[in-house]
Amino acid sequence: APSVTSGMGAADGWSAERIAQLYIVPCMKYYGICVKDGFLGPRLGDQVLKEVETLNQSGKFRGGQLVSQRSIPSKNIRGDQIAWVEGKEPGCESIGILMAHIDEAIMHSSAKGQLGDYVINGRTKAMVACYPGNGTRYVRHVDNPNGDGRCITCIYYLNKDWDVKVHGGMLQLYPEGRNVVANIEPLFDRLLIFWSDRRNPHEVKPAYATRYAITVWYFDAKERAEAKEKYRLAAGQKGVEVRVSQSNNT
Ligand code: OGA
Ligand code: OGA
Ligand code: MN
Repeated sequence: APSVTSGMGAADGWSAERIAQLYIVPCMKYYGICVKDGFLGPRLGDQVLKEVETLNQSGKFRGGQLVSQRSIPSKNIRGDQIAWVEGKEPGCESIGILMAHIDEAIMHSSAKGQLGDYVINGRTKAMVACYPGNGTRYVRHVDNPNGDGRCITCIYYLNKDWDVKVHGGMLQLYPEGRNVVANIEPLFDRLLIFWSDRRNPHEVKPAYATRYAITVWYFDAKERAEAKEKYRLAAGQKGVEVRVSQSNNT
């Protein structure tokens, strides 16, 4: 079985192709969950963190929204504050570089049918999320329970010196059909990748310090086209699509 966590990263001279082939592909096939530490390296990681802190200080974050309309106020389900970022905005250049690195890793992984039948042709913008640290959480949920087109969730964490025993904020995944809980600490420069569908219910435990993460969802072309047909998706935040091209040199 492959290892769930890996330290090899661009910072150590590992190419996106090698990380994809040697690590992300086997890990996703075997576990459906993959954790990549040291994804950008400390220098670029720091620059991303600074941009996110500045966004937060300048009041760019709003209460996290849910796709479905429910009678329960959103803040009782998810207590994070979010901002959608394309990566081309002034002051978001490092977030843009992060997105390009994640695109590269995912497109190399999904090339040549290595991730089964998925054909990835786009993704959402980056959802920058901040849990303010007052004990807010995100209750157990599935990102894409009803086939809205999202197939892969990628979350990049930005929290230095994070101690889950003190600060909480653990991400707990309950992979379907396996009698285990995957506990993911939201550590600085860590990239988490998992299937977005019902295979991976998950929750964020209450956070007692400011907790930052950047999430992006990749679309499967066929499921996305069918979902648009079925629900006539309005061009809401999750409908804001960015095209990524299939890598062919893996
Ligand atoms: C919901 C929900 C998950 C998401 O709409 O109820 O859980 O990713 N959404 O927005
Ligand atoms: C989400 C989510 C997990 C995390 O935003 O859908 O589950 O660890 N986030 O921030
Ligand atoms: Mn989620």
